[in-house]
Amino acid sequence: MATAEDIAKLTAAALADTAAADSPAALEEVRVSHTGRRSQLAEILASIGSLSGEERGIIGKAANIARRDIEAALATRKTDLDARELTERLTRDRTDVTLPGDPYPAGAMHLLSQVRLEIEEIFLALGYEIADGPEVETEHYNFTALNTPEGHPARSSSDTFYVDGAPGVILRTQTSSVQVRVMEARTPPLYVISPGAVYRRDDVDATHSPMFHQLEGLAVDEGLSLAHLTGTLKHVASQLLGSTEYRIIPDFFPFTEPSIQLLVRWIDRTGKSSWMELLGAGMVDPNVFRFAGYDAERWTGFAFGMGLDRIAMVRHGVPDLRMLFDGDLRFLEQFS
Ligand code: PHE
Repeated sequence: MATAEDIAKLTAAALADTAAADSPAALEEVRVSHTGRRSQLAEILASIGSLSGEERGIIGKAANIARRDIEAALATRKTDLDARELTERLTRDRTDVTLPGDPYPAGAMHLLSQVRLEIEEIFLALGYEIADGPEVETEHYNFTALNTPEGHPARSSSDTFYVDGAPGVILRTQTSSVQVRVMEARTPPLYVISPGAVYRRDDVDATHSPMFHQLEGLAVDEGLSLAHLTGTLKHVASQLLGSTEYRIIPDFFPFTEPSIQLLVRWIDRTGKSSWMELLGAGMVDPNVFRFAGYDAERWTGFAFGMGLDRIAMVRHGVPDLRMLFDGDLRFLEQFS
């Protein structure tokens, strides 16, 4: 049988344990052991009904006061501990918004993109438009429609990448493949350029790579002559390369007649100076107009295809074409 003294003792123990609990979890243990279903206090409260009248009054009152006091102390302590824990977490997790952010490396345009944009600007100023064409092309647009018959050496698999399992499909070897696509889609007069990647099974050396870039030009109008072509090329060459020495010599392409080639002076790694072919060009062959469905009696035109990578090399003194594709930041950052 519990006495009022027992109740005073267990109350004191409960209050002491409550004050000593230093975390919400520890406090919960205190709560269960002092006020839970199996606690001494719960037992006393359950036994009150069986006590005699006088005892019931004294013990019942004392036990209920004890319960109220202990629960009040537990609640106060819980509020304190929760607040302390929140403060600690906020301090621990605090973000200092004044700290500098993680550095994010700034990118820059690749040298080739810079050169391409510059050349595009020169042609846009001359009234040209920019057209696009697929890199995975058909033999038709890359060769046949460009007056390059079956059996022509350029079509051999030692020069051209053929797509496995897709007859007649290749990686374009020249941006000239865009010429007939443009002519089929439009009616003259037209002045169009088309830059992009091309692919050849070339031996790799300082001026050759299996993937490189060209910029095609096509002008179709009435009365165009070789003078318009060379005048355009000279203008573009001087805009791009300033006073670099260049020369124009006869050449051959199946889709132009006559055909020419423009070369510029180039100093290689060893300091040796030589001529490097920068572009091929010529007057559009009437057969190409026929493939495109144009009246070859009425329309005249010229076309050119320049090597973008080589222009970048000559302009910036890059000794090896492959540096443009290696992705070496020590090289690339020099042009950012
Ligand atoms: N496509 C030719 C080449 O890759 C260049 C060229 C373009 C020549 C247009 C004439 C006219 O060599």
